[in-house]
Amino acid sequence: MIEVIEMAEEDDEDIEVPGSRDEAEERAEELRDEIRYHDRKYYIENDPVISDHEYDMLVKELKAIEEEYPDLETPDSPTQRVISAEIDEFETVEHMSAMLSLDNTYNHEELRDFDRRVREGLGREDIEYVVEPKIDGLGVALYYEDKVFQRGSTRGDGIRGEDITPNLKTVHTIPLRLRDETVLETAEFRGEVYMPRDEFEEMNEERVEEGKNAFANPRNAAAGTVRNKDPSVVADRPLDIFIYTLSYNSEGEFETHWQCLKEMERAGLKVNENVVKKEGIEEVIDHIDSWQEKKEELNYEIDGIVVKVNRLNYHDELGATSKHPRWAIAYKYPAMRKTTEIKEIEVQVGRTGKLTPIAILEPVQLSGTTVERASLHNEDELERKDVMVGDTALVEKAGEIIPQVVKVITDERDGSEEEFEFPHTCPVCGSEARRFGDEVARRCVNAQCPAQVKQRLEHWGARGAMDIEGLGPKVLNKLVEKGYLKSIPDLYELGKIQLTSIERMAQKSARNLLDEIEKSKEQSLDRVIYGLGIKFVGDHVATLLTQHYDSMDEIIDADEEELQEIDEIGPKIAESIVSFFDDEQNRKMVEKLKGHGVTMEVEREEVEQFLEGKKFVFTGALDNYTRNEASELVEKYGGRVTSSVSGATDYLVVGENPGSKLDDAEEEGTTILEEEEFEELLRVEG
Ligand code: IVH
Repeated sequence: MIEVIEMAEEDDEDIEVPGSRDEAEERAEELRDEIRYHDRKYYIENDPVISDHEYDMLVKELKAIEEEYPDLETPDSPTQRVISAEIDEFETVEHMSAMLSLDNTYNHEELRDFDRRVREGLGREDIEYVVEPKIDGLGVALYYEDKVFQRGSTRGDGIRGEDITPNLKTVHTIPLRLRDETVLETAEFRGEVYMPRDEFEEMNEERVEEGKNAFANPRNAAAGTVRNKDPSVVADRPLDIFIYTLSYNSEGEFETHWQCLKEMERAGLKVNENVVKKEGIEEVIDHIDSWQEKKEELNYEIDGIVVKVNRLNYHDELGATSKHPRWAIAYKYPAMRKTTEIKEIEVQVGRTGKLTPIAILEPVQLSGTTVERASLHNEDELERKDVMVGDTALVEKAGEIIPQVVKVITDERDGSEEEFEFPHTCPVCGSEARRFGDEVARRCVNAQCPAQVKQRLEHWGARGAMDIEGLGPKVLNKLVEKGYLKSIPDLYELGKIQLTSIERMAQKSARNLLDEIEKSKEQSLDRVIYGLGIKFVGDHVATLLTQHYDSMDEIIDADEEELQEIDEIGPKIAESIVSFFDDEQNRKMVEKLKGHGVTMEVEREEVEQFLEGKKFVFTGALDNYTRNEASELVEKYGGRVTSSVSGATDYLVVGENPGSKLDDAEEEGTTILEEEEFEELLRVEG
């Protein structure tokens, strides 16, 4: 599997910049088209067809050409997404037309009032509405000239905003060039920049691990990011966008807002998929009600629903007040924030010893669930928010995210509140709790601390790790309290007597648990590695490690530089792995596990390497496999996958929408395989 590393190096050398300028220009155009196609598949359609590595190689090749022939660089080239210079100050830009905001409604009656005003204003009854989610992010305007993205700005005061073009260019769902399919040429669009929930949470977890402050919610995170002065920081944050208005167009005539949405989609812009047309306000109301719960399942936060009159000539007829259009309105769902009392502050100790303050609340109902605990993140946050025990706090629940204390209402204090002193000793084992370096977190220094041990064991036994059924938190609590478990290897020394000595553990459950523990020794090495709970090593990174190394010993011996040769493993992960195995205790633990017979080697299937020496190239989208899957199959049987066709290529596998590689293959006389023929080849031989 070290193959992959070699391949990456070889591919780098493979990049050949055409000798003549004309050829280079042609190739650059081809590459741009191909990269744009893959950007669309990956970022907009969520259906990638090539591996990250192959994609990187396309970008690398394009960069090489643009470096060799700087005059071939174009502003809409996919290489222009991230600039490295910092921004001194954002310039102010005037919008092409005022960016109005929407008037809000909070109940059905107010919606019916809006509809009545619309009908009376137009003097007609049959009104078609377009109903859209109201994305909770930041409004922006995007300006394109002759299809090329020129400028992006914040809403500002509605008349003038800040030019944040370099930051918006890093957002992959904002096309740097509109697609040929659209009639739109010079146009202005408006949309909402936001942060997807899952990526927001992932980012926050990482920030906390790194000792940085967590963002309070996705909206704050998006707002803080969009106006960051360093576009390379912005590029690392998971921003996304939905476009909802065509605010200027030089080309094309549209009768309805709906047609504009469709045209913007055709132009390659990301339009929300949950936009619908409704006849009359009652249909709108039903729709709004049906989204009350459903909205929690979305991977982005919405703070309501926007209702817009569909016909554009009606927009002109109805006009606007100085602030709001009369043809659209927002409906806001009841707030997911409530006030409640902080009864107590508890300090939790995590797997890595981190102390997290938790507010224990007088239970409140928030969007359908009872909230009794809310995170206060860390010592500094507690101080910054000036939280006292007994305070009235504003608590927020944003979807799946753990409830948060937004702020305390200091006006409601009556003098009975008590100061909370953040402990400098571990509340569980009493050892010192220290802040290391410039970390925000305070950590218990005792690696044997029962709280840490418990959580490490819980992680070890979890589903994606060793999957030990019956090793739940309750059982673990008791085993750790009794002193039977001090570290992971102790688990493999447990006997029936110890198990049945804990309360309510019957003979049969004890037997089952022991069987499960025994069985876990057979789990594959990637699960073992994941189970160790190394910082930044989730199940995916664990799998990457076992794809590249054959045994735990090889991984323990790897240095940071070597680890970073693996695609997707950067300096942060590499450092964490090395420092984990540098620790004497951790190495002893692995030795003990090895002694107990826990898997320490990668078991690879013996398969006949009938594709040995054969080179494959893929082009276009396959029906039954992603690029990764297809490449893995080829590699499994000993073949190699490269990114471009040359005389040495044996097979070009062609999917839907093939690129220029097909022409290259025809020229080289390479064997061309359709997807079915490719499958046939694997089936017959393999
Ligand atoms: S239409 C004049 N559609 O909500 C029409 N706005 O106060 C203005 N927003 O400033 C915008 N989702 O930033 C529209 N589907 C959507 C929206 C949306 C979110 C934001 C936008 C606007 C604010 C309204």
